[in-house]
Parts: sequence; C-alpha cells; structure tokens
Amino acid sequence: MMKKIEAIIRTSKFEEVKSELKKIGIDFFSYWEAAGIGNEHLREHHTYRGTIYDTQYISRIFIAIVLKDANVQKTVDCIEKAAYTGEIGDGMIFTYNIEESVRISNGARGDASTAGPGDEKL
Ligand SMILES: Nc1ncnc2c1ncn2[C@@H]1O[C@H](COP(=O)(O)OP(=O)(O)OP(=O)(O)O)[C@@H](O)[C@H]1O
Ligand SMILES: [Mg+2]
Repeated sequence: MMKKIEAIIRTSKFEEVKSELKKIGIDFFSYWEAAGIGNEHLREHHTYRGTIYDTQYISRIFIAIVLKDANVQKTVDCIEKAAYTGEIGDGMIFTYNIEESVRISNGARGDASTAGPGDEKL
C-alpha cells in the first residue's frame, strides 16, 4: 500500500527540505514552482514586525512524493520540521491514498515500483 504526500513550502526552505529528506533516504520526488493563497485573511494581525505581511506573495515550491505506507510518517515529520519557521505562511502538508503505481522501465507495480529508506536501489 502506498500514499502520496504533497507539501507546499516556502521556496527559501526547499534546499533544507531536500537535504533533510535525503538524510532519511528519500531522494526521489517531483516538485514545481507554485503560487497560492493561505488563510491569512482569517488572522487578526496582518502585520509582522511592523510590516504588512501578505503571504500570497511568498514564493512557493510544491512537492509530491509517493511512498510505501511504512515511510509516510517519518517523511511528513521530516518535512514539517525542515520547512518550519514559525512565522505565518509556512505552508501545508497533505496525505492521500494511492491506487496504483507503475514503474515504466520494468513494469513493477505497487510497493515494488518505488524504493525507500533501507531498500536496495531499484
Ligand atoms: N487548505 C488548503 N488547501 C490547499 N492549499 C492550501 C491550503 N491552505 C494553505 N494552502 C497552500 O499553502 C500556502 C501557504 O499557506 P499557509 O496556510 O501556510 O499561509 P497562511 O494562511 O498565510 O499562514 P498560516 O500558516 O499561519 O496558516 C498557500 O499559499 C496555499 O498554496
Ligand atoms: Mg493558513
């Protein structure tokens, strides 16, 4: 069984997230530049350290990783820790069930199609 983790993080945190993921054995994922709107309008304070702070204009990277179930929790924890600043607009992490995965080069399906921490490289 596999899951997909999607994370939308600050671009300024991308290198840190990437290197922390590598440390736990996650060296495969997709990513792209993204724009987004948080829920900053729900906040009472729209200023941070005296400047107006509109999180809509923070540069974002969107990351998608498909993993075996057993690797999901540590991966979410790793991203949460590496992407954290504690300021508004740090981003979000979502987890989904995956129906199927096919490794095109060898026809492997499901768990056998993706490597992970501790696995031999495929
Ligand atoms: N519920 C959501 N669904 C999909 N994407 C979201 C959702 N909430 C936030 N995002 C994405 O995450 C990005 C960062 O939002 P985030 O919620 O971190 O900012 P914020 O609302 O300004 O501050 P805070 O982190 O305090 O909520 C958004 O630009 C958007 O792309
Ligand atoms: Mg928000």
